[in-house]
Amino acid sequence: MSLRDLDMLLGRLPPARPTQDELDTLAGGWPEMLDGPGLLRRAHFSDQGYSRAILHRTADWEVLLVGWLKGQRSAPHGHGESFGLTCVLEGALTEVVYRLAPGGQVMRAEKHLHRAGSVFREQPHTIHHVEHAGRSRTVSLHLYAPPLERMEFYEGSTGTSHPRASGRREPKRSIIVR
Ligand SMILES: [Fe+2]
Repeated sequence: MSLRDLDMLLGRLPPARPTQDELDTLAGGWPEMLDGPGLLRRAHFSDQGYSRAILHRTADWEVLLVGWLKGQRSAPHGHGESFGLTCVLEGALTEVVYRLAPGGQVMRAEKHLHRAGSVFREQPHTIHHVEHAGRSRTVSLHLYAPPLERMEFYEGSTGTSHPRASGRREPKRSIIVR
């Protein structure tokens, strides 16, 4: 998608190499500045798992939509070097935040319900998993700066765990929206 088209959807584009303050300023205009219906039309869904649709990616940031169906969730993950903003456009998400213990284990620390219109932040040190909540489908808008190229994944199903053997891997395959 062109920057011009993305600008129409977001109301304001992120600057090159956005600082955390600039990301906070952008988040302050969400969701009011967003073209919600225009964004929702571009979301994708799959019964194989949550579906990422990349709207635009530069060297400094990327913007994508994620479509979530009932029962779909991410693995517990870190964010490499990226800062992130997430806005729930439709439906709801549960976010479970983990704390990293000195031995490298992750332990569940907090749980948040984010309804439509909510914005939450991710930092490089944030470890969390995100899952569909509620009855209807969910669409979330994500901005990562720099683009989320490598993430740390953890086994968190028991609530106490170690990083996976590989430690890091590429994010799931994504759809590029034209
Ligand atoms: Fe995340």
